Amino acid sequence: MASLSFFKLALLTPLLLLVLASSTSSVAQLARLQPKIGCQTQCGDVKVDYPFGIGKRCGRSEHFQLLCKRNDRGRFKTFIRGNTLYDLEVSSISVSEGLARIKNPVSWLCYNRTDGSVTFDYSGANLIQTPFWVSNTRNIFIVIGSNAFAYISLNGTNSGYTAGCVAQKFSKESMVKSSCSGIGCCYATIPIRSKSYAMSFSLLDSNFSSSYSICGYAVLTEVNRFRFSTSYLTTPGSFEKDIVNLSVVLDWTIGNEKCELAQRNITSYACVSSHSTCVDYHGLGYRCSCLHGYGGNPYILHGCQIIKDIQRSVPVPLSK
Ligand SMILES: *[C@@H]1O[C@H](CO)[C@@H](O)[C@H](O)[C@H]1NC(C)=O
Ligand SMILES: *[C@@H]1O[C@H](CO)[C@@H](O)[C@H](O)[C@H]1NC(C)=O
Ligand SMILES: *[C@@H]1O[C@H](CO)[C@@H](O)[C@H](O)[C@H]1NC(C)=O
Ligand SMILES: *[C@@H]1O[C@H](CO)[C@@H](O)[C@H](O)[C@H]1NC(C)=O
Ligand SMILES: *[C@@H]1O[C@H](CO)[C@@H](O)[C@H](O)[C@H]1NC(C)=O
Repeated sequence: MASLSFFKLALLTPLLLLVLASSTSSVAQLARLQPKIGCQTQCGDVKVDYPFGIGKRCGRSEHFQLLCKRNDRGRFKTFIRGNTLYDLEVSSISVSEGLARIKNPVSWLCYNRTDGSVTFDYSGANLIQTPFWVSNTRNIFIVIGSNAFAYISLNGTNSGYTAGCVAQKFSKESMVKSSCSGIGCCYATIPIRSKSYAMSFSLLDSNFSSSYSICGYAVLTEVNRFRFSTSYLTTPGSFEKDIVNLSVVLDWTIGNEKCELAQRNITSYACVSSHSTCVDYHGLGYRCSCLHGYGGNPYILHGCQIIKDIQRSVPVPLSK
């Protein structure tokens, strides 16, 4: 199924690109920074729009090149080429919002009641040498467990900083309240300008005999999609089941300079669409945006089009 829809899209794309190519001929200098003919625009469920691309020469630069690989089940999956031990799987990319979502492996720690042993797996991501940043406004660090302390180190352990919290002891009496309020579940916000993260656990209490949860979990995830449920502490496996479709939100920048500097070089300046503008990203680079009332892709000529409704994301409380 996935491969069929990909071929359909691949057939449609050259037509669109031919239209684009003919309109760029008058501005030959910009033409080479536009999407190229014949590039794949879909990988599995993920739509890949310029400046991103699959395969050599398809993205704006090698930093925007994504990998499209078949997994064990024969389905196509999209990956960021991070300099990590594993490639980060992309679940979606938004060019208009300057976001990408990646699948986030859950960090966990479990206590074995039979032999007292502890097993764990800690996750993380490294986005150095990629255009991505961990969004501090859209993600939250969540810890679930009974007497579980977990923390997240951002930008490396030496030069970086750490956030964390304690999910306090959970009991039957405290079960009434099913929100992430500190008992059985806690959360911490993360700082701005992070390029990497790694998670870790500490055991506060090794007497699990009275505890509801014998596993603790920690995850960085999209704040307005997470809902806490007490079943995460009482039913083994229920958290892993629910979290499977949640993602970490990344911001991305198109260049490393500030707008003022980027605009001086007309060959490399990325905001090429009419009705587009340049937006500085926290002093770390710039990104492009369609002007108010326009939507679409500011990175391609005529990419910004008039829209009627502008979607807004509404944050929702951390409870079920
Ligand atoms: C717990 O430890 C026992 C004894 O070593 C082992 O047989 C069992 O598989 C372990 N349980 C889990 C869930 O790992
Ligand atoms: C994190 O690292 C990136 C790149 O290494 C750097 O640009 C950024 O300023 C760092 N963030 C903080 C808060 O130091
Ligand atoms: C563990 O907790 C149970 C129940 O609260 C208690 O009866 C037991 O004495 C505790 N064990 C240790 C070693 O503290
Ligand atoms: C996760 O997404 C898949 C595919 O969209 C869907 O079939 C599945 O029900 C979702 N799982 C949860 C727990 O939402
Ligand atoms: C403008 O950008 C192009 C493409 O990145 C680069 O080759 C060129 O050296 C830049 N020019 C100046 C004046 O920085």
